[in-house]
Amino acid sequence: MRTTKAAGARRLGLIPPYLFAEIDRKVQEKKRSGIDVISLGIGDPDLPTPKRIVSVLQEAAADADNHRYPSYFGLAELRGAIANWYRDRFDVRLDPQTEVLPTLGSKDGISHVPLALVDPGDIVLAPDPGYTVYVTGALMAGAEPYTMPLKPENDWLPDLDAIPDEVAQRARLMWLNYPNNPTAAVADRKFLTRAVDFCRERGIVLCHDAPYSEIAFDGYRPLSLFEIPGAKEIGLEFHSLSKTFNMTGWRLGWVCGRADLVALIGQLKTNIDSGIFQAVQWAGIEALNGGEEETRAACEVYARRHRLVADTLNSLGWKITPPRATFYVWAPVPDGYDSIGFASHVLDEVGVNITPGVGFGAHGEGYFRLSVTAPDARLAEAMKRMEKLRH
Ligand code: MLT
Repeated sequence: MRTTKAAGARRLGLIPPYLFAEIDRKVQEKKRSGIDVISLGIGDPDLPTPKRIVSVLQEAAADADNHRYPSYFGLAELRGAIANWYRDRFDVRLDPQTEVLPTLGSKDGISHVPLALVDPGDIVLAPDPGYTVYVTGALMAGAEPYTMPLKPENDWLPDLDAIPDEVAQRARLMWLNYPNNPTAAVADRKFLTRAVDFCRERGIVLCHDAPYSEIAFDGYRPLSLFEIPGAKEIGLEFHSLSKTFNMTGWRLGWVCGRADLVALIGQLKTNIDSGIFQAVQWAGIEALNGGEEETRAACEVYARRHRLVADTLNSLGWKITPPRATFYVWAPVPDGYDSIGFASHVLDEVGVNITPGVGFGAHGEGYFRLSVTAPDARLAEAMKRMEKLRH
Protein backbone atom coordinates (compact mmCIF):
# COMPACT_ATOMS: atom_id res chain seq x y z
CA MET A 1 0.00 0.00 0.00
CA ARG A 2 1.34 3.46 -0.89
CA THR A 3 1.40 6.10 1.77
CA THR A 4 0.74 9.74 0.92
CA LYS A 5 3.88 11.77 0.27
CA ALA A 6 3.18 14.37 2.91
CA ALA A 7 1.09 14.42 6.06
CA GLY A 8 0.58 18.15 5.75
CA ALA A 9 2.14 21.29 4.35
CA ARG A 10 5.28 22.48 6.17
CA ARG A 11 3.68 25.88 6.73
CA LEU A 12 0.96 24.30 8.85
CA GLY A 13 3.69 22.99 11.12
CA LEU A 14 4.47 26.64 11.90
CA ILE A 15 1.13 27.39 13.40
CA PRO A 16 -0.55 25.83 16.44
CA PRO A 17 -4.14 24.59 16.33
CA TYR A 18 -6.59 27.51 16.69
CA LEU A 19 -6.84 28.45 20.39
CA PHE A 20 -10.62 28.53 20.54
CA ALA A 21 -11.03 25.32 18.53
CA GLU A 22 -8.81 23.60 21.11
CA ILE A 23 -10.72 25.11 24.03
CA ASP A 24 -13.98 24.03 22.44
CA ARG A 25 -12.65 20.50 22.05
CA LYS A 26 -11.74 20.35 25.75
CA VAL A 27 -15.11 21.72 26.84
CA GLN A 28 -16.97 19.22 24.63
CA GLU A 29 -14.95 16.38 26.19
CA LYS A 30 -15.97 17.53 29.69
CA LYS A 31 -19.59 17.85 28.62
CA ARG A 32 -19.54 14.33 27.15
CA SER A 33 -18.35 13.04 30.51
CA GLY A 34 -21.48 14.55 32.09
CA ILE A 35 -20.03 17.77 33.53
CA ASP A 36 -22.17 20.90 33.31
CA VAL A 37 -19.51 23.23 31.97
CA ILE A 38 -20.17 26.98 32.01
CA SER A 39 -18.18 28.49 29.20
CA LEU A 40 -16.75 31.96 29.69
CA GLY A 41 -13.95 31.12 27.30
CA ILE A 42 -14.89 32.86 24.06
CA GLY A 43 -16.19 36.33 23.25
CA ASP A 44 -19.38 35.10 21.63
CA PRO A 45 -22.44 37.18 22.63
CA ASP A 46 -25.24 35.11 24.17
CA LEU A 47 -27.82 37.82 23.40
CA PRO A 48 -29.75 37.13 20.18
CA THR A 49 -29.32 39.08 16.96
CA PRO A 50 -31.99 41.82 16.95
CA LYS A 51 -35.27 40.62 15.40
CA ARG A 52 -35.37 43.31 12.71
CA ILE A 53 -32.09 41.93 11.30
CA VAL A 54 -33.28 38.31 11.41
CA SER A 55 -36.52 39.33 9.63
CA VAL A 56 -34.59 40.91 6.77
CA LEU A 57 -32.51 37.75 6.43
CA GLN A 58 -35.66 35.60 6.35
CA GLU A 59 -37.19 37.66 3.60
CA ALA A 60 -33.98 37.96 1.62
CA ALA A 61 -33.29 34.23 1.92
CA ALA A 62 -36.61 33.52 0.18
CA ASP A 63 -35.75 35.81 -2.74
CA ALA A 64 -34.23 33.86 -5.63
CA ASP A 65 -32.25 36.94 -6.70
CA ASN A 66 -30.08 36.32 -3.66
CA HIS A 67 -29.41 32.66 -4.45
CA ARG A 68 -26.79 33.18 -7.14
CA TYR A 69 -23.18 34.25 -6.78
CA PRO A 70 -23.00 37.52 -4.89
CA SER A 71 -21.01 40.46 -6.16
CA TYR A 72 -17.35 39.80 -5.46
CA PHE A 73 -16.82 43.15 -3.79
CA GLY A 74 -20.05 43.23 -1.78
CA LEU A 75 -23.35 44.93 -2.62
CA ALA A 76 -22.97 48.64 -3.36
CA GLU A 77 -25.75 49.17 -0.81
CA LEU A 78 -23.69 47.40 1.89
CA ARG A 79 -20.54 49.38 1.10
CA GLY A 80 -22.68 52.52 1.23
CA ALA A 81 -24.17 51.53 4.60
CA ILE A 82 -20.68 50.94 6.00
CA ALA A 83 -19.47 54.35 4.77
CA ASN A 84 -22.58 56.02 6.23
CA TRP A 85 -22.04 54.25 9.54
CA TYR A 86 -18.46 55.59 9.67
CA ARG A 87 -19.71 59.08 8.87
CA ASP A 88 -22.41 59.01 11.54
CA ARG A 89 -20.42 57.25 14.25
CA PHE A 90 -16.92 58.70 13.80
CA ASP A 91 -17.37 61.65 11.45
CA VAL A 92 -15.02 59.84 9.08
CA ARG A 93 -15.55 59.93 5.30
CA LEU A 94 -14.93 56.77 3.29
CA ASP A 95 -15.45 56.29 -0.44
CA PRO A 96 -17.75 53.24 -0.59
CA GLN A 97 -16.46 52.36 -4.09
CA THR A 98 -12.79 52.19 -3.28
CA GLU A 99 -12.19 52.37 0.46
CA VAL A 100 -14.55 49.66 1.78
CA LEU A 101 -14.47 45.89 1.24
CA PRO A 102 -16.94 43.55 2.99
CA THR A 103 -15.39 40.34 4.33
CA LEU A 104 -16.61 37.03 5.71
CA GLY A 105 -16.25 38.34 9.26
CA SER A 106 -13.22 40.40 10.22
CA LYS A 107 -11.14 37.23 10.75
CA ASP A 108 -11.30 36.67 6.99
CA GLY A 109 -9.72 40.05 6.35
CA ILE A 110 -7.23 39.78 9.21
CA SER A 111 -5.95 36.36 8.25
CA HIS A 112 -5.64 37.24 4.56
CA VAL A 113 -4.15 40.72 4.70
CA PRO A 114 -0.53 39.48 5.03
CA LEU A 115 -1.00 37.32 1.92
CA ALA A 116 -2.00 40.44 0.02
CA LEU A 117 0.51 42.94 1.43
CA VAL A 118 3.55 41.14 2.79
CA ASP A 119 6.37 39.13 1.24
CA PRO A 120 8.20 36.16 2.74
CA GLY A 121 10.87 37.41 5.13
CA ASP A 122 9.11 40.71 5.87
CA ILE A 123 8.31 41.50 9.47
CA VAL A 124 4.79 41.81 10.82
CA LEU A 125 4.52 43.61 14.17
CA ALA A 126 1.87 42.12 16.43
CA PRO A 127 0.82 42.75 20.04
CA ASP A 128 1.49 40.07 22.66
CA PRO A 129 -0.87 39.15 24.25
CA GLY A 130 -3.05 39.47 21.19
CA TYR A 131 -5.64 37.89 18.95
CA THR A 132 -3.78 34.85 17.65
CA VAL A 133 -4.67 35.42 14.00
CA TYR A 134 -2.26 38.39 13.67
CA VAL A 135 0.67 36.01 14.15
CA THR A 136 -0.71 32.97 12.35
CA GLY A 137 -1.74 35.09 9.35
CA ALA A 138 1.82 36.42 9.13
CA LEU A 139 3.29 32.92 9.39
CA MET A 140 1.02 31.57 6.67
CA ALA A 141 2.33 34.32 4.39
CA GLY A 142 5.93 33.32 5.15
CA ALA A 143 6.49 36.55 7.08
CA GLU A 144 8.28 36.89 10.36
CA PRO A 145 6.09 37.97 13.28
CA TYR A 146 7.77 40.31 15.77
CA THR A 147 5.78 40.64 18.93
CA MET A 148 5.29 43.93 20.77
CA PRO A 149 4.77 43.15 24.47
CA LEU A 150 1.72 44.68 26.12
CA LYS A 151 2.44 45.30 29.78
CA PRO A 152 0.33 46.56 32.68
CA GLU A 153 2.85 49.31 33.46
CA ASN A 154 2.23 50.72 29.96
CA ASP A 155 -1.55 50.39 30.28
CA TRP A 156 -1.35 47.44 27.87
CA LEU A 157 -0.14 49.67 25.02
CA PRO A 158 2.95 48.62 23.05
CA ASP A 159 6.13 50.60 23.67
CA LEU A 160 6.88 51.72 20.12
CA ASP A 161 10.28 53.12 21.15
CA ALA A 162 11.34 49.61 22.15
CA ILE A 163 11.04 48.33 18.57
CA PRO A 164 14.62 48.08 17.27
CA ASP A 165 15.38 50.22 14.19
CA GLU A 166 16.41 47.22 12.10
CA VAL A 167 13.10 45.52 12.93
CA ALA A 168 11.07 48.62 12.10
CA GLN A 169 12.96 48.92 8.80
CA ARG A 170 11.96 45.39 7.77
CA ALA A 171 8.40 45.71 9.06
CA ARG A 172 5.67 46.01 6.43
CA LEU A 173 2.68 45.83 8.69
CA MET A 174 1.73 46.60 12.30
CA TRP A 175 -1.32 45.26 14.13
CA LEU A 176 -3.10 47.24 16.83
CA ASN A 177 -6.42 46.37 18.44
CA TYR A 178 -8.26 48.80 20.72
CA PRO A 179 -10.47 48.31 22.65
CA ASN A 180 -8.20 45.38 23.21
CA ASN A 181 -8.68 41.66 23.21
CA PRO A 182 -7.69 40.05 25.57
CA THR A 183 -6.72 42.81 28.04
CA ALA A 184 -9.83 45.05 27.67
CA ALA A 185 -7.47 48.05 27.56
CA VAL A 186 -8.34 51.15 25.56
CA ALA A 187 -6.14 53.52 23.55
CA ASP A 188 -6.40 57.29 23.64
CA ARG A 189 -5.91 59.75 20.81
CA LYS A 190 -2.34 60.49 21.91
CA PHE A 191 -1.25 56.86 21.57
CA LEU A 192 -3.02 56.33 18.25
CA THR A 193 -1.46 59.54 16.89
CA ARG A 194 1.95 58.30 17.97
CA ALA A 195 1.33 54.96 16.24
CA VAL A 196 0.19 56.67 13.03
CA ASP A 197 3.31 58.89 13.03
CA PHE A 198 5.56 55.90 13.76
CA CYS A 199 4.14 53.91 10.86
CA ARG A 200 4.06 56.85 8.43
CA GLU A 201 7.70 57.68 9.08
CA ARG A 202 8.73 54.09 8.43
CA GLY A 203 6.34 53.16 5.60
CA ILE A 204 4.54 50.54 7.65
CA VAL A 205 0.89 49.69 6.97
CA LEU A 206 -1.01 50.19 10.23
CA CYS A 207 -3.83 47.66 10.60
CA HIS A 208 -6.30 48.47 13.34
CA ASP A 209 -8.63 45.69 14.39
CA ALA A 210 -11.66 47.37 15.93
CA PRO A 211 -14.48 44.85 16.46
CA TYR A 212 -15.10 46.06 20.02
CA SER A 213 -15.47 49.76 19.20
CA GLU A 214 -19.17 49.71 20.13
CA ILE A 215 -18.87 47.63 23.30
CA ALA A 216 -18.07 50.39 25.76
CA PHE A 217 -19.46 51.63 29.05
CA ASP A 218 -20.30 54.75 31.04
CA GLY A 219 -20.36 57.02 28.02
CA TYR A 220 -16.89 56.05 26.78
CA ARG A 221 -16.68 56.20 22.95
CA PRO A 222 -13.71 54.33 21.44
CA LEU A 223 -11.97 56.00 18.51
CA SER A 224 -11.67 54.87 14.94
CA LEU A 225 -8.10 54.89 13.63
CA PHE A 226 -9.34 57.23 10.91
CA GLU A 227 -10.16 59.94 13.43
CA ILE A 228 -6.39 60.41 13.61
CA PRO A 229 -5.05 62.85 10.97
CA GLY A 230 -3.06 61.07 8.27
CA ALA A 231 -4.20 57.59 9.29
CA LYS A 232 -5.88 56.85 5.98
CA GLU A 233 -2.59 57.39 4.13
CA ILE A 234 -1.13 54.32 5.83
CA GLY A 235 -3.99 52.56 7.53
CA LEU A 236 -6.60 49.89 7.33
CA GLU A 237 -9.34 49.25 9.86
CA PHE A 238 -11.11 45.94 10.38
CA HIS A 239 -14.62 45.76 11.71
CA SER A 240 -17.30 43.21 12.23
CA LEU A 241 -21.00 42.98 12.95
CA SER A 242 -20.26 40.04 15.27
CA LYS A 243 -19.89 41.84 18.57
CA THR A 244 -21.92 45.00 17.86
CA PHE A 245 -25.08 43.21 16.73
CA ASN A 246 -24.59 39.72 18.24
CA MET A 247 -23.89 38.24 14.82
CA THR A 248 -20.84 36.03 15.31
CA GLY A 249 -22.44 33.16 13.41
CA TRP A 250 -23.33 35.28 10.40
CA ARG A 251 -19.78 36.02 9.27
CA LEU A 252 -20.00 39.59 8.12
CA GLY A 253 -17.33 42.22 8.55
CA TRP A 254 -15.21 44.56 6.47
CA VAL A 255 -11.86 46.15 5.91
CA CYS A 256 -11.65 49.82 5.01
CA GLY A 257 -9.03 52.49 4.49
CA ARG A 258 -6.40 53.30 1.89
CA ALA A 259 -7.86 52.49 -1.50
CA ASP A 260 -4.88 50.73 -3.13
CA LEU A 261 -4.44 48.46 -0.10
CA VAL A 262 -8.16 47.65 -0.03
CA ALA A 263 -7.96 46.84 -3.76
CA LEU A 264 -5.06 44.42 -3.19
CA ILE A 265 -7.02 42.58 -0.49
CA GLY A 266 -9.99 42.46 -2.88
CA GLN A 267 -7.77 41.03 -5.62
CA LEU A 268 -6.58 38.29 -3.27
CA LYS A 269 -10.00 37.50 -1.87
CA THR A 270 -11.74 37.22 -5.24
CA ASN A 271 -9.29 34.41 -5.95
CA ILE A 272 -10.09 32.67 -2.67
CA ASP A 273 -13.81 33.03 -1.90
CA SER A 274 -16.88 33.94 -3.88
CA GLY A 275 -18.28 36.62 -1.65
CA ILE A 276 -20.91 36.80 1.06
CA PHE A 277 -24.42 35.30 0.72
CA GLN A 278 -26.45 38.27 -0.43
CA ALA A 279 -29.25 37.66 2.08
CA VAL A 280 -26.68 38.09 4.85
CA GLN A 281 -25.51 41.31 3.20
CA TRP A 282 -29.06 42.72 3.18
CA ALA A 283 -29.37 41.82 6.86
CA GLY A 284 -26.05 43.57 7.49
CA ILE A 285 -27.38 46.70 5.79
CA GLU A 286 -30.39 46.57 8.09
CA ALA A 287 -28.07 46.18 11.10
CA LEU A 288 -25.97 49.21 10.19
CA ASN A 289 -28.93 51.43 9.30
CA GLY A 290 -30.86 50.70 12.47
CA GLY A 291 -29.15 52.91 15.02
CA GLU A 292 -27.45 52.07 18.27
CA GLU A 293 -30.29 51.38 20.65
CA GLU A 294 -29.86 47.61 20.77
CA THR A 295 -26.10 47.84 21.13
CA ARG A 296 -26.43 50.32 24.00
CA ALA A 297 -28.94 47.97 25.68
CA ALA A 298 -26.49 45.06 25.28
CA CYS A 299 -23.74 47.19 26.80
CA GLU A 300 -25.95 47.80 29.85
CA VAL A 301 -26.19 44.04 30.26
CA TYR A 302 -22.43 43.61 29.89
CA ALA A 303 -21.75 46.44 32.35
CA ARG A 304 -23.99 44.79 34.95
CA ARG A 305 -22.24 41.46 34.41
CA HIS A 306 -18.83 43.12 34.66
CA ARG A 307 -19.82 44.50 38.06
CA LEU A 308 -20.92 41.04 39.23
CA VAL A 309 -17.61 39.49 38.14
CA ALA A 310 -15.53 42.27 39.70
CA ASP A 311 -17.50 42.05 42.98
CA THR A 312 -17.11 38.28 43.14
CA LEU A 313 -13.44 38.14 42.24
CA ASN A 314 -12.64 41.09 44.52
CA SER A 315 -14.32 39.30 47.41
CA LEU A 316 -11.91 36.44 46.71
CA GLY A 317 -8.83 38.66 46.86
CA TRP A 318 -8.49 40.03 43.31
CA LYS A 319 -8.37 43.77 42.68
CA ILE A 320 -10.41 44.22 39.54
CA THR A 321 -11.87 47.41 38.13
CA PRO A 322 -14.59 46.78 35.54
CA PRO A 323 -13.19 47.72 32.10
CA ARG A 324 -14.22 50.72 30.00
CA ALA A 325 -14.81 48.56 26.95
CA THR A 326 -15.14 44.97 25.65
CA PHE A 327 -16.85 42.06 27.33
CA TYR A 328 -13.57 40.68 28.64
CA VAL A 329 -12.13 40.51 32.13
CA TRP A 330 -8.36 40.15 32.20
CA ALA A 331 -6.94 39.26 35.57
CA PRO A 332 -3.82 37.75 37.12
CA VAL A 333 -3.83 34.09 38.12
CA PRO A 334 -3.32 33.36 41.83
CA ASP A 335 0.19 32.69 43.15
CA GLY A 336 1.40 29.18 42.55
CA TYR A 337 -0.27 28.75 39.16
CA ASP A 338 0.68 29.41 35.60
CA SER A 339 -2.15 30.41 33.31
CA ILE A 340 -2.80 26.97 31.83
CA GLY A 341 -2.59 25.39 35.29
CA PHE A 342 -5.13 27.85 36.69
CA ALA A 343 -7.56 27.51 33.75
CA SER A 344 -7.36 23.69 34.04
CA HIS A 345 -7.86 23.90 37.80
CA VAL A 346 -10.99 26.04 37.41
CA LEU A 347 -12.38 23.73 34.73
CA ASP A 348 -11.63 20.55 36.66
CA GLU A 349 -12.71 21.80 40.09
CA VAL A 350 -15.83 23.83 39.34
CA GLY A 351 -16.60 23.27 35.63
CA VAL A 352 -16.04 26.88 34.55
CA ASN A 353 -14.16 27.41 31.34
CA ILE A 354 -11.84 30.45 31.23
CA THR A 355 -9.04 31.20 28.79
CA PRO A 356 -5.39 30.94 29.85
CA GLY A 357 -3.56 34.18 29.09
CA VAL A 358 -0.64 32.37 27.50
CA GLY A 359 -3.00 31.28 24.72
CA PHE A 360 -2.73 34.89 23.48
CA GLY A 361 1.07 34.88 23.52
CA ALA A 362 4.00 34.51 25.91
CA HIS A 363 3.30 37.88 27.55
CA GLY A 364 -0.17 36.69 28.50
CA GLU A 365 1.43 34.25 30.92
CA GLY A 366 0.31 34.89 34.50
CA TYR A 367 -3.17 36.03 33.43
CA PHE A 368 -6.53 34.60 32.51
CA ARG A 369 -9.38 36.01 30.46
CA LEU A 370 -13.06 35.49 30.91
CA SER A 371 -15.89 36.78 28.78
CA VAL A 372 -19.18 38.02 30.23
CA THR A 373 -21.08 36.68 27.22
CA ALA A 374 -22.91 33.94 29.12
CA PRO A 375 -26.58 34.33 30.09
CA ASP A 376 -27.08 36.15 33.43
CA ALA A 377 -28.11 33.03 35.35
CA ARG A 378 -25.16 31.02 34.02
CA LEU A 379 -22.70 33.79 34.82
CA ALA A 380 -24.15 34.09 38.34
CA GLU A 381 -23.81 30.32 38.75
CA ALA A 382 -20.21 30.50 37.48
CA MET A 383 -19.42 33.18 40.06
CA LYS A 384 -21.00 31.06 42.82
CA ARG A 385 -18.80 28.19 41.73
CA MET A 386 -15.71 30.43 41.71
CA GLU A 387 -16.43 31.24 45.36
CA LYS A 388 -16.13 27.52 46.13
CA LEU A 389 -12.83 27.17 44.30
CA ARG A 390 -10.13 25.67 46.50
CA HIS A 391 -6.65 27.04 45.94
C1 MLT B 1 -12.29 35.77 21.30
O1 MLT B 1 -12.92 35.14 22.17
O2 MLT B 1 -11.13 36.16 21.46
C2 MLT B 1 -12.99 36.06 20.03
O3 MLT B 1 -14.33 35.81 20.11
C3 MLT B 1 -12.44 35.24 18.94
C4 MLT B 1 -12.90 35.79 17.64
O4 MLT B 1 -13.45 36.88 17.58
O5 MLT B 1 -12.64 35.10 16.64
